[in-house]
Amino acid sequence: MKVPDIIIAIDGFSATGKSTLAKLIAKEFDFVYLDSGALYRGVTLHALENGFIDKDNNIDLEGLKKSLDEGLDLHFESDGGQSHTFIGERDIESEIRTLRVSSSVSPIAAVPFVRAFVDNILHAAGRKGRVVMDGRDIGTAVFPDAQVKLFVTADPDVRAQRRFDELKAKGENPVFEEVKKNLEERDYIDSHRETNPLRRADDAFVMDNSDMTLHEEIVWTRGFLMGRFGILELTTASSSNAGQC
Ligand code: CDP
Repeated sequence: MKVPDIIIAIDGFSATGKSTLAKLIAKEFDFVYLDSGALYRGVTLHALENGFIDKDNNIDLEGLKKSLDEGLDLHFESDGGQSHTFIGERDIESEIRTLRVSSSVSPIAAVPFVRAFVDNILHAAGRKGRVVMDGRDIGTAVFPDAQVKLFVTADPDVRAQRRFDELKAKGENPVFEEVKKNLEERDYIDSHRETNPLRRADDAFVMDNSDMTLHEEIVWTRGFLMGRFGILELTTASSSNAGQC
């Protein structure tokens, strides 16, 4: 028996390893992985490059709205456990992960018309089912009927260290305190915005992965899914689920 064609929603604070977990789940159980944060990051990159947001994070709402209404071609391609984000033909996957984008993404993501723009893309992708999606409001607002909801959390210092290591590995020159401050600021803005703030859905299960290895996370998830769906023996699905969203 395999995991049925469900939607798995993974929400939680910044840099808790949601996307790593979501990618592992996608690979293990042959789901399509969708990274909602990448889309908010994509809109932010677009806003930065076109002068719709300044260095103090003041947003030209009218200009940004007009350009989204004109049709920003923001999309991603998912293949197994991987997801790549594009604006038109341009692969923006690495540019959206810089600290520059991270420091402007939460104010942009708090704008209601930006959320509506991203939600449209997510709903279209999720309609196909057998999807694991990570973000801040997936289980509460984007897919409130998701059959499995996880809320991931971890110690703030552990999270900051993970993100610091990630940025370093990508060739950036991060300062630990700046990385940590960015995570704290985003957590605050994300949890306090008016539209669909970050919070645990009432029916979400909490995973604190501060002291868990990736292997332990996938063992935990496997056990969770087996218990949840009464599966006695897990086999991964055989059909490929790659596609463009
Ligand atoms: O990977 P990391 O935890 O740094 O964040 P992310 O998932 O890439 O998301 C970047 C930002 O997008 C978050 O800090 C939120 O401001 C926003 N976001 C959101 O508002 N709603 C979502 N469903 C996903 C991300």
